[in-house]
Amino acid sequence: MGNNWPTHFTEVIDTVHPLTSLHTFGLEAYSDYFTTIDSLDSLLEIASSLSEKPYLLLGDGSNTIFVDDFEGMIVKNALKGIHISEDDDYFHLNVASGENWHDLVCLCTEKGIYGFENLALIPGTVGASPIQNIGAYGVEIEKFVHSVEFLDITTQMMGYFNKKECEFAYRDSRFKREPGKRVITSVNFAMPKNNLLVTSYGPLAELNNPNPRSVFDAVIAARNTKLPDPHVLGNAGSFFKNPTIGRLTFEELKLRFPELPHYNAPEGKVKIPAAWLIDQLGFKGSRVGDIGCHEHQALVLVNHGGGKAEDLLRLARDIKSHVLATFGIKLENEVRLMGKQGKVDL
Ligand code: EPU
Repeated sequence: MGNNWPTHFTEVIDTVHPLTSLHTFGLEAYSDYFTTIDSLDSLLEIASSLSEKPYLLLGDGSNTIFVDDFEGMIVKNALKGIHISEDDDYFHLNVASGENWHDLVCLCTEKGIYGFENLALIPGTVGASPIQNIGAYGVEIEKFVHSVEFLDITTQMMGYFNKKECEFAYRDSRFKREPGKRVITSVNFAMPKNNLLVTSYGPLAELNNPNPRSVFDAVIAARNTKLPDPHVLGNAGSFFKNPTIGRLTFEELKLRFPELPHYNAPEGKVKIPAAWLIDQLGFKGSRVGDIGCHEHQALVLVNHGGGKAEDLLRLARDIKSHVLATFGIKLENEVRLMGKQGKVDL
């Protein structure tokens, strides 16, 4: 295989790099090249190569599943650094993209910087948080993002998007829609000092006199009950997005399925929990080889150990086609599935 990478990649050129422990789903896969960036200089050094060959910036690998070997460069993000300042109304955070998300939530909660508590225990890095606009228990990260700094791969220049330019949507952003174009280097958050707690969601609504610390603890307890620990059971969180449907379609569906849970979504639409649809079809706890649908949360697919990509794809496609046949709803995967050259669809 030809190679145009800078000379310091020579050490990995004749061998393939195992990716199994680099993504929390843990399928066996390999990449042709691998490097780690731990400073802006080390990123700039490889920047021109990134425009020539397929590459993938990888944080903690908690929302990416390698369903094939990757014929390109895996760039492991180890950019670190947290800077905090404040004015009368806000705490301002500048956080390097390779910082661990949950560690940041813990640090902020300890320091009395509030707002992130609903997002405790979400796996992954800070750099991944704006890409898919992470969200849980009634809060999405866009609420606190001030701006995002990145390296533009096309121009080889550092760039900056303010919140509006990030074009956030449910589990979506401009970064997600335009993969490979930018390497996020840091995220700026503006945390209002008068932030209001969000406790409307399920288990949080039962808290007595809630405060940021008790919300933080309740979110951790709720996640630990339902969501498998990726260190114990391979998984990548919710495999599918919760679908949004039109009001009329919802009313028709509700006649057929009176129990159908739902939430109001923007523009008069209705969001349906995909977990409920999958659960109704009896997939919960089912297995294809060593790949399974989690027994406590139907939206989470798991690797019981030694799982194969073909089994994962079979189960995911089976779920998707049954949901379509029964409910007329087309599920979209929330996780990023990576094939030989880049992102692949189900
Ligand atoms: N439900 C079932 N069966 C199940 C699980 C859930 O019928 O096995 C139904 C219940 O009616 C429940 C509803 O689905 O009330 C919603 O379930 P849950 O509260 O567990 O949340 P979710 O919609 O499945 C979303 C996020 C999670 C986030 C939780 C909590 C998405 C795709 N997922 O899950 O985020 O932690 O809400 O806020 O929006 C992730 O993105 O990876 C993730 C884990």
